[in-house]
Amino acid sequence: MIPPYLFAEISRIKAEAIASGADIIDLGIGDPDLPTPQPVIDALCHSVQNPVTHRYDETARGWTSFLEAATDWYGREFGVDVDAATEVVQLIGSKEGLAHLAWAYIDPGDVAIVPNPGYTVYKVNSQMAGGEVYEAPLREANHYLPVLRDIPTEIAKRAKLFYVCYPNNPTGAIATKEFYADLVQYCREFDILLVNDMAYATVAYDGYKNPTVLQIEGAKDVSIEFHSLSKMYNMTGWRLGFALGNADAVNNLQRLKSNIDSKAFPAIAEAGAKALRNVDNKHTIDMYQRRRDLLCDGLNEIGWKVEKPKSAFYVWARVPRTDMTSAEFAGAILREANIVMIPGNGYGTEGEGYVRMSLTLLGDTGGARFKEAVQRIKASGLVPTPAAV
Ligand SMILES: Cc1ncc(COP(=O)(O)O)c(C=O)c1O
Repeated sequence: MIPPYLFAEISRIKAEAIASGADIIDLGIGDPDLPTPQPVIDALCHSVQNPVTHRYDETARGWTSFLEAATDWYGREFGVDVDAATEVVQLIGSKEGLAHLAWAYIDPGDVAIVPNPGYTVYKVNSQMAGGEVYEAPLREANHYLPVLRDIPTEIAKRAKLFYVCYPNNPTGAIATKEFYADLVQYCREFDILLVNDMAYATVAYDGYKNPTVLQIEGAKDVSIEFHSLSKMYNMTGWRLGFALGNADAVNNLQRLKSNIDSKAFPAIAEAGAKALRNVDNKHTIDMYQRRRDLLCDGLNEIGWKVEKPKSAFYVWARVPRTDMTSAEFAGAILREANIVMIPGNGYGTEGEGYVRMSLTLLGDTGGARFKEAVQRIKASGLVPTPAAV
């Protein structure tokens, strides 16, 4: 669970600063700041005029044109065939699916293996479903990949789900095909469903292309992968995603969902199909890349050593001083520089000692606010100068 005091304190200082007229640079939340591409909006306006979209979607797993667009997209992007009729399910955003998967699989006494630090949805829902979680540490020394041999065999035997997320939130780390191959083998050995959260699949820089778990031979026997239109097409508010892979897992998730929700608004699904078929959101990715370079190059120049992420839109940086916790540093940077950063321990104990900065920033034009952020951080004096380190 996220330690509430942490965010409460940041939110309190932020609210006070805004009330006193301060100009806050909010690098906290990760939410695309550019609007949804116009062809997608036009497609929605068109679809909403069709009364067919006004009724329940009575299909088995989602609006047919959307599921076909999703599997075609997956085939084009990653070279993997997925059957639109049996191996994909439409979601009301990937968060919904990731959460409900825990409810579909976890009973009291079961274990879910989740990353620490990690997106909190996996852990919280596994626990709410009555299960236990084993938090696999993601450490810089292992490139933020869980070390499979460190997981106790007793845990592996009781585990039903193994959640991973690459490209990773909050660390910005990426997975290798070798890691996925080991993970597939591990999940096969212990009969665990491998759950790969790829919400940031296409947010990648410098021409880098993320591998997927389903590219591994035999992965479909033990894996389900979650995708989202939110970050891919600046559609966080639309609530649309999909999960694909093992047909039984897809079915189990849909069986649970059909008792809870009645799918997304079909007009939104049709607009999503348009996005998957025809939209290239490169201008948004290029913008994040420019911001990433301005922020990371700028911070490195002032003596704060940070790595440039290859994918996702987060800069995960070590707190640049030894006398402050993540929360203390984030609090100080907010007070002294009017910049919001997320303390790493908000994502789990292993996040202590780090802060996360998002490359999404409403109102930024051409990266000017990121340059300003670097100047403010420098002026705050909170980053020791290289000579002083
Ligand atoms: C790692 C990760 N997974 C999933 C999601 C959920 O995205 P959505 O429900 O909008 O598809 C997010 C959102 O921030 C995320 O960071």
